[in-house]
Amino acid sequence: MSKSPLRLGIAGLGHVGSEVARIIETQGAHLSRRGGRDIVVTAVSARDKNKQRSCKLAGVAWVNNPVELAAHKDVDVVVELIGGSEGVARDLATAALKASKPFITANKALLAHHGVELASLSEKHNVALYCEAAVAGGIPVIKTLRESLAGNAVKEIYGILNGTCNYILTTMRETGRAFADVLADAQRLGYAEADPTFDIDGMDAAHKLAILSSLAFSSPVDLSALAVSGIRNISLADIHFAEELGFRIKLLGVSRQTEKGLMQRVSPYMVPLTEQLAHVEGALNAVFIEGSAVGPLTLIGRGAGAAATASSVLGDIIDAANGGAPPAFGVSVANMKAIKSLPDSDSIGAFYVRLMVADEPGVLADMAAILRDARISIQSLLQKGRNEAGPVAVVFITHDSNEKAMADALAKLGKMPSVLEAPCVIRIL
Ligand SMILES: NC(=O)c1ccc[n+]([C@@H]2O[C@H](COP(=O)([O-])OP(=O)(O)OC[C@H]3O[C@@H](n4cnc5c(N)ncnc54)[C@H](OP(=O)(O)O)[C@@H]3O)[C@@H](O)[C@H]2O)c1
Repeated sequence: MSKSPLRLGIAGLGHVGSEVARIIETQGAHLSRRGGRDIVVTAVSARDKNKQRSCKLAGVAWVNNPVELAAHKDVDVVVELIGGSEGVARDLATAALKASKPFITANKALLAHHGVELASLSEKHNVALYCEAAVAGGIPVIKTLRESLAGNAVKEIYGILNGTCNYILTTMRETGRAFADVLADAQRLGYAEADPTFDIDGMDAAHKLAILSSLAFSSPVDLSALAVSGIRNISLADIHFAEELGFRIKLLGVSRQTEKGLMQRVSPYMVPLTEQLAHVEGALNAVFIEGSAVGPLTLIGRGAGAAATASSVLGDIIDAANGGAPPAFGVSVANMKAIKSLPDSDSIGAFYVRLMVADEPGVLADMAAILRDARISIQSLLQKGRNEAGPVAVVFITHDSNEKAMADALAKLGKMPSVLEAPCVIRIL
């Protein structure tokens, strides 16, 4: 190779960092050919120098404070695989970009909170910011949006962006086990973190959707514009009713351009069984994009895991070796345009509603009156069994309805004396 080697400083040697270093050690010849120069790890940093790692790191310098990698004389490119929106990850990103060193990260939290600030720094210092692994692990969705689909106006983008939630929902459906039971199992198998809040309450998917929305709609990354809810309240009953009605429940991130603004939401959705995404199961991720020229496009693959995520990081490393990069979010910060959010009062969609009601005369008529007054019409209705001793489930699917009208009607339905539990409502994709 005529060019000098590309020297990497890797911060974080956990699942992803160790795998990236291991692949560089074992597949150097292939990577060098793709990058047009040798690619070597020259310095690393993590918390514990003595921890056993799956990579060898022979002759590699150890740095106690990861932020020092930015100024390290033998580091050309900084790869951040620590995580977290603040602290060392943010400090390192800032220091690397200010030092005009290309910065590669898999850190969605960092980009969701500080994406615009970091993109500005990368432009100011004329240095690349790469983040393919930050969304959907091994699925190359960032480059797809930023480069391959650059000629399209994106109409909508939605997807299964959290493998832990998809694993839990799939396993509940397949095994008939309850949410808490399956979550405990997922933690034991390593699919879910010890503190699963970020995953199951939708924030991990929200970080990813905020990044995708920016790329899709050339707008600033704006996490605060997203409505976020998770899967904690999804019951086996809803999963079974969904199947009966021709749907499968998925936690989706949805970003859709409408005439009245951009709708951005992470929430459980009833996905029709006729849709490809309904059949993306287990820990897999999927992203659907509707582009003006390309039409519908679906990407499916591993959204997490050391090897799949390393695949995306390595793609970025090879890009850095070849040099040059488009703006991190597809357009320069100056060309980003904030898009007005779609107010709930203008948001239209169909809903699945499950009410647990006392099995007594007149309940359906009272419910129908509330829905009629809210101008919500029912497409189909199921009432299951008779149970004079306890509640019975009444399930209905609405025609397209106004989001605010639905929320108001649900509040009234929830206050009916014969409704014995808080109503469960799930949007229909
Ligand atoms: N795992 C995945 O499947 C996946 C998928 C997509 C994106 N990502 C992203 O990739 C990044 C890394 O994830 P991971 O799963 O590899 O995490 P991880 O296994 O928890 O590894 C984190 C690494 O960071 C090091 N670290 C933590 N705090 C540090 C500090 N203050 N100073 C120095 N080093 C510190 C740890 O050091 P020690 O090893 O010494 O404790 C560890 O090596 C995160 O941003 C994550 O969101 C991960």
